[in-house]
Amino acid sequence: MTAPPVRWDKPGVPNTVELLQKVSLFHEVDSEELERIASLLTPKDFRKDQHIVTQDEPGDALYIIARGRVKVILTLLKAGEFFGEMSLVDAQPRSANVIASDDAQVLILKREAFTDHLMASPKTALNVMAELSRRLRRADEIIGNLATLDVYGRVAHIMIDLAKKDGEETEEGILIRERPTQQDIASMIGTSRETVSRVLSEF
Ligand code: CMP
Repeated sequence: MTAPPVRWDKPGVPNTVELLQKVSLFHEVDSEELERIASLLTPKDFRKDQHIVTQDEPGDALYIIARGRVKVILTLLKAGEFFGEMSLVDAQPRSANVIASDDAQVLILKREAFTDHLMASPKTALNVMAELSRRLRRADEIIGNLATLDVYGRVAHIMIDLAKKDGEETEEGILIRERPTQQDIASMIGTSRETVSRVLSEF
């Protein structure tokens, strides 16, 4: 079962700690350290379709999604997920554009604060590796599907993938409450919105 969406309505350290406890990056990090990190975060709001991170720019911060969803090439990340770690880990420019898919709020942790925390917390370093592995596995699977499946297979596969990641069990089956738009699905699987619409209605 997928965890319920993280709510983050009122700013403030105790509330932020609650959010951080749900972020995979900080799994098993003690609450004292999370309080310290919470006090270092800067919230920033983005409107739907605004760029949060631009590909090829230098990266100097990590982002935690407090509200809304963001698009990163083949995937959608939601509240309680993070991005921007790659440039901090490998000192290369940003690997991809990250764009607000809804009105979104992110919490920004500057490079130095992230690095200080990583040095003190091997648990977080392992959590970063686990998340990178998860994302690489998913990307490998998507690349494999793009190469081998026709458009029907690709649409079917992305729906199954979304159901596994974000689906909720209901009496009538699995419900994907915060479904990406047909345009989002189209760009995830390298086809047009019209094709996605036609394939979904044929299904
Ligand atoms: P960074 O390269 O600093 O900036 C862009 C961010 O997008 C990157 O860090 C990751 O956090 C995120 N990202 C890049 N590729 C993927 C992917 N395949 N799946 C999920 N997130 C990604």
